[in-house]
Amino acid sequence: MRHDRSVLVAGLSTLLVSAAACSSGTSSSAAAAGNNAMPPSVGPSVNAESMIKAGEYLTIVGSCNDCHTQGWVESKGKIPPADRFAGLDVGFRGDWGTSYGKNLRTVTQRQDEDHWVKVLTTADEGDGKLPMPWWNTAMMNERDLRAMYRYIKSLGPNPKGVPRALPPGKEPTGKYIWVTPKTGS
Ligand code: HEC
Repeated sequence: MRHDRSVLVAGLSTLLVSAAACSSGTSSSAAAAGNNAMPPSVGPSVNAESMIKAGEYLTIVGSCNDCHTQGWVESKGKIPPADRFAGLDVGFRGDWGTSYGKNLRTVTQRQDEDHWVKVLTTADEGDGKLPMPWWNTAMMNERDLRAMYRYIKSLGPNPKGVPRALPPGKEPTGKYIWVTPKTGS
């Protein structure tokens, strides 16, 4: 029943063909549908009408905004998409030094999708600092990881700067949260 769409993408990989067969009936260009339609996945994963919708949902329930979107926690999530994921200027200080929730708008513009998957499943090849929950993203379904990338990339570039991570013992100049537990007196 969806022969018209399958014909459009004939010649592309079988993955893209089956992705198009699963896509919603709304008309969009074949290229956009190929990038935004839900490809098949193995194991638990989120279903939505498009990869971008799945990505938006996952970033909210996956708490990604809490540390990567300025004002998300204070406003209880009332930040419009255009202002999401440009990074946090409140540092997370602990035994590792001080880290900052990076500007993922810039990251998704500069890095390709495969690299994003690699970073999130290998804790940035062992270099990733806390409190980024690397152990949780490593457990995510690959389709879900790709959906988050496509959603954040679809928001476009945002040049907001985020302070550089600092080594242990170096005093941050701006605001920070102390993350490593301390024992009260
Ligand atoms: C508790 C805070 C916190 C949460 C929640 C969080 N992050 Fe992070 N994230 C960070 C910090 C801090 C860094 C910087 C780590 C470093 O400097 O190594 C980071 C780094 C990253 C990077 C590496 C960027 C790069 O290429 O250098 C990616 C990608 C990322 N986060 C994606 C996500 C996604 C997707 C989610 C939701 C599933 C998420 N983060 C949730 C705090 C957080």
